Amino acid sequence: ASGLAITGCGSAVPAASLNNHGLSEIVETSDEWIASRTGIRSRHLASPQESLVDIAVEASRGAIASAKINPEDLDLIILATSTPDDLFGTAGKIQIQLGAKRAVAFDLTAACSGFVFGMVTAAQFIRTGVYRNVLLIGADILSRWVDWNDRRTCILFGDGAGAVVMQANEQDHLLGFMLQSDGTKHDQLNLAYQPEAKPLANLTIGQGGFAPITMNGQEIYRFAVKRVPEVIGKALFHAGCTVEDIDWLVMHQANQRILDAVAQRLKLPAEKVVSNMAEHGNTSAASIPLALDAEIREGRIKVGDKIAAAGFGAGLSWGATIFEW
Ligand code: ACO
Repeated sequence: ASGLAITGCGSAVPAASLNNHGLSEIVETSDEWIASRTGIRSRHLASPQESLVDIAVEASRGAIASAKINPEDLDLIILATSTPDDLFGTAGKIQIQLGAKRAVAFDLTAACSGFVFGMVTAAQFIRTGVYRNVLLIGADILSRWVDWNDRRTCILFGDGAGAVVMQANEQDHLLGFMLQSDGTKHDQLNLAYQPEAKPLANLTIGQGGFAPITMNGQEIYRFAVKRVPEVIGKALFHAGCTVEDIDWLVMHQANQRILDAVAQRLKLPAEKVVSNMAEHGNTSAASIPLALDAEIREGRIKVGDKIAAAGFGAGLSWGATIFEW
């Protein structure tokens, strides 16, 4: 059995962005309403020519370069996403574009918890000695699936990708984790298949597309504020750490009020709480590695710092990892 370390990270967003003023020309809203309730001021949005693969590959190249490995070194690629270019799986296309010839590649879906669930999945392969070098990507293009007439949801989301390289390492840098699910609240946040009846010979089958995102905002808010501090506490317990040991909290970037409330419940000072919502909005599986990458590149997160990462969202699902950079 081996330990593991996170040895590189990268990120990418589509070139174009739309600020709250621009949004207020599409739906009846205002910069003041959006910023005061969510902390979001702008979001990057993908053009039809930009694919999930494009931004995932760019983020991955950054992670591979900063880990100082070659794509051929990769054993495994996990793509955490809810918005693949191809429902049959998108990770394989990323594998080929990176030139990661040896790697096995698959998609993992856990909505806004995807990155944290992916980190724990990757860790199992490394700890059992099966794989040594893993690329974990969190990427989503939710703008494809948002109802742009629904001001309760369309103001929240943005597009992006982030990636980390996780490698076998003598000293284990993943100190603890906890993952949780509650399917009883599944219908509170959905991007669901909506079949239309289609007669076929003597049968009727379902065909058609997906409904846009639907969300019970207040229920999700209550869920996050209650469950996220809890799950961080459990992961800290497994890590043998306390809140005082945390240098940085990198949460899923859903809403500034959720970040503030979680930090307050944990009694964690605001300066330890990473936030990039103002520029990116909620980028789902990408939000944690996007935020992490910016902090590392700008030199705020330093080698040896202890990080609590927490994801939460549809499923409902939520989870936390405690790791050392
Ligand atoms: N602009 C202006 N007015 C709006 C907007 C908008 N964009 N959206 C809603 N309103 C109006 C509503 O119509 C309502 O008006 P009414 O009272 O006349 O009916 C009023 O504002 C209040 O609406 P609420 O839905 O009660 O607003 P709330 O204060 O709950 O804020 C929000 C909504 C920001 C979504 C909040 O519920 C929240 O942050 N929830 C967390 C959900 C979240 O972050 N989800 C992210 C996706 S899931 C994830 O990533 C985990």
